Amino acid sequence: MLEVDQLTTRYGAITALHGVTINVNAGEVVALVGPNGAGKTTLLNTVAGLLRPADGTVRFNGADITGAEPADLVRAGLALVPEHRRIFKDLTVEENLRLGGSTLRLHQRVSRVHEMADLFPVLRAKWSTSAGFLSGGEAQQLAVARALMCDPKLLLLDEPTLGLAPTLVDVVFDLLDRLRKEGRTLLVVEQNATRALQLADRGYILRTGHLVAEGSGADLAADQGLFESFIGGADGA
Ligand SMILES: Nc1ncnc2c1ncn2[C@@H]1O[C@H](COP(=O)(O)OP(=O)(O)OP(=O)(O)O)[C@@H](O)[C@H]1O
Ligand SMILES: [Mg+2]
Repeated sequence: MLEVDQLTTRYGAITALHGVTINVNAGEVVALVGPNGAGKTTLLNTVAGLLRPADGTVRFNGADITGAEPADLVRAGLALVPEHRRIFKDLTVEENLRLGGSTLRLHQRVSRVHEMADLFPVLRAKWSTSAGFLSGGEAQQLAVARALMCDPKLLLLDEPTLGLAPTLVDVVFDLLDRLRKEGRTLLVVEQNATRALQLADRGYILRTGHLVAEGSGADLAADQGLFESFIGGADGA
């Protein structure tokens, strides 16, 4: 479904990704882990069209989407839940969800908002509350629900548990597990590396812009030596 080939992305003189190749098959959950500054956010943002790569290609369902506009990618079925959630704090839960469906026709958007209310009872209970008043876990559920508004074929999640208390980390992992069981295709960046790899079918380890390991989620999670050498203190699990 997603084929990232030899991707290089730079910020001016800084090269954040050095020819990274990864792929995600339909129905798979893939974890991307690695220490701070490894280039994980850069990879997701490049795939989602927020950054333009210096080199390499991104293909989605067979089509070359390298350098495509984010809105066109959303229409094509690729949604990003960005780092730090980026929900609109002054808007209500419902308004945030409607914005997530801005590429949909009005009647689709209305019915999809109702579906989200059914899928996320926590959000239904806070329907008319300004998103700025949500707890971290509630805000993360809103960020995921907003991305699901367009029923994406591929969901990219950047640190969905960042800054959450341990009980709320559990809530988010339960949500990821639910999405997995629904057969959704996910590419997840996570600081809780062990947990993310255990959940995932496959995983990649990125360090200083280079892929340093790949394999089944279970194998990578079980490889303690690999963890110590490549992830070190980044594993919060
Ligand atoms: N806007 C920017 N301008 C310049 N350099 C940047 C910018 N954003 C990121 N970088 C650099 O690119 C590299 C990769 O950053 P990136 O945010 O992709 O890492 P990350 O793996 O997501 O890290 P973290 O775990 O801290 O979120 C780092 O060296 C970072 O300092
Ligand atoms: Mg990041």
